[in-house]
Amino acid sequence: MKAAILFESLTGHTRRAGELIATNLQQAGWGITGVSPVRSPEMAAIQDADVVIIGTWVHGLFVVGQAPWGLGAIAHLPALRGKLAATYCTFALNPAKTLDKLDTAVSGLGAEVIGGLALHRAKLEEHSEEFAARLVANIPARA
Ligand SMILES: Cc1cc2nc3c(=O)[nH]c(=O)nc-3n(C[C@H](O)[C@H](O)[C@H](O)COP(=O)(O)O)c2cc1C
Repeated sequence: MKAAILFESLTGHTRRAGELIATNLQQAGWGITGVSPVRSPEMAAIQDADVVIIGTWVHGLFVVGQAPWGLGAIAHLPALRGKLAATYCTFALNPAKTLDKLDTAVSGLGAEVIGGLALHRAKLEEHSEEFAARLVANIPARA
């Protein structure tokens, strides 16, 4: 399988998570067509991918009002009809319904969203590994 990773990141955690997910997927035998920011996506990487992974960070008042940052930019990504998508967000305290909101936005691009995971910013390595393992388990390699 080939995956493109798109991230929205202010202080680097979500970018780092994307890079860690890419490394873990490569170790599982997947191809990575590109890892690029949502606001300057690599179009060829998206086109070449079977699965598009979209990550952002949780913005809110920590206990209320949590939402994915950059939904406007995500809504302006190219259409993803015919592609699978998976989502992730990084957070500090509590992601609340951030992933559901992100999934709705990515579904709006036409992708089939197969799931997502919230990654604690203090456990990026562990949680990125879990994200990749779950993705690989849910999409068995094509014959
Ligand atoms: C303005 C602001 C608001 C935030 N609000 C929340 C929040 O409501 N809940 C939470 O768990 N983390 C919150 N965070 C923490 C970020 O989601 C977390 O640090 C994330 O990993 C940042 O990703 P980045 O390094 O890719 O920008 C907030 C961070 C900022 C800067």
